[in-house]
Amino acid sequence: MTGSSSGIGEAIAKLLATEGITVVVHGRDEGRANAVAEAIRATGGKAEVALGDLTTDAGAEAVATAALAGGPIDILVNNAGFIGYLSWEQTTTADWAETYNTNVISSVRMIKHLVPQMRERHWGRVIQIGGGLSQQPSAIMPHYNASLAARHNLAVSLARELTDTGVTSNVVAPGAILTEGFQTALTHMAQAHGWGDAWEEIERNATQAMAPNDTGRFGRPQEIAMAVAYLASPLADYISGATIRVDGGTVRTVI
Ligand SMILES: NC(=O)c1ccc[n+]([C@@H]2O[C@H](COP(=O)([O-])OP(=O)(O)OC[C@H]3O[C@@H](n4cnc5c(N)ncnc54)[C@H](OP(=O)(O)O)[C@@H]3O)[C@@H](O)[C@H]2O)c1
Repeated sequence: MTGSSSGIGEAIAKLLATEGITVVVHGRDEGRANAVAEAIRATGGKAEVALGDLTTDAGAEAVATAALAGGPIDILVNNAGFIGYLSWEQTTTADWAETYNTNVISSVRMIKHLVPQMRERHWGRVIQIGGGLSQQPSAIMPHYNASLAARHNLAVSLARELTDTGVTSNVVAPGAILTEGFQTALTHMAQAHGWGDAWEEIERNATQAMAPNDTGRFGRPQEIAMAVAYLASPLADYISGATIRVDGGTVRTVI
């Protein structure tokens, strides 16, 4: 479960733990990762911690080795990543390369380390956290949008590669999700944008301005976690190469 020391990843780790799964909490920050693992253990779940930066081959290898020290891994959720709020004009080619490395090649590194042992045991789940911006990109964050598209694309290629192995590969594509950090940022932005004072009003107006959708609100990290839990379960044996959008209808297939 990469990038589970905060945000969406934290919610996924906590939900999978309530399903009886031993989760490996991962991040670079030791304090945050340990806090999530402690919270899981405090509610009767099982959690281990693997720390490390996934942007280098050596870093990813160390994370995989630490994760496998507790036994085989059945489920890989590639969630670690970052969003850079830059425009076309602001982004340098270095930003594009760094974003691709962090958001895409980090996932590939974990796939290369963990999928072979899933194949050997004839069961496994690989789940990429993608996003609606992969299909409906905005003018801003072009490097980020493109990295999400690559995550979707590689998940389907991997599904075809894993034909007849018992291992599936899928994508969960969130819309705009209300993580703690995002809520704080919106609350600070509210006055300048005239979004109101009460949180309910701020959320309604910010959603309309930033990610209009059929529910009139942002998604919650737990809602992404529920889709991941479904794909990770035996209930989803017949699903591979698919994308489950959890975005309240942000991405429009029919206008
Ligand atoms: N939030 C949204 O609305 C949204 C929508 C669509 C898709 N997504 C995707 O969902 C994922 C999680 O987003 P979030 O909003 O929950 O972000 P977040 O709260 O910033 O969490 C990111 C996680 O990734 C880890 N991480 C970042 N860079 C890393 C690196 N180089 N090596 C290892 N770990 C790294 C962080 O751990 P440390 O800080 O401890 O290193 C943290 O656990 C991202 O991949 C993002 O692209 C988010």
